[in-house]
Amino acid sequence: MLIGITGDTHNNLKNISKICEIFNSLHVDLVIHTGDITLPKSLRAFKDLNTKIIGVYGNNDQEEKKDLIKTATEFDCFFHEEPYFFKISDVSFTIIHHPELIDHEMLKVSDVIIHGHTHKYREEILKETLIFNPGECAGLLKGKNKVGLISTESLKTEVINF
Ligand code: NI
Repeated sequence: MLIGITGDTHNNLKNISKICEIFNSLHVDLVIHTGDITLPKSLRAFKDLNTKIIGVYGNNDQEEKKDLIKTATEFDCFFHEEPYFFKISDVSFTIIHHPELIDHEMLKVSDVIIHGHTHKYREEILKETLIFNPGECAGLLKGKNKVGLISTESLKTEVINF
């Protein structure tokens, strides 16, 4: 199973459209969003995805949360409070917005932790757990934005610049 990873998209609608295009062309099976969607119209822009999107709310999603929750019911979209833990193909994932939430207990129960908030690429192994953040998704400079991919079979990641 191939998972597409994005986050901190804020209100860059042009980038969100591009992100949907990239994930659709790669036929990902699921998309993870690490939070900071900010406005309902930005969440709605993910309707273009051909697959389900799941994620967590970030610090910039608190003000409009009520409307974000309502918007999420319009399509195959499931957002949760962080940390959100789920298992897919026997791999334990934790999605968080804030990396400072990573602690011993989270590392113990997660094979993979995906986070956002920093807008910076990060890929490292901490106590056998893969920590991954593909990086900037809302930047204005073409080619400086990134989304990520992870295979649940190999846990191999890839970063796509756009
Ligand atoms: Ni944030």
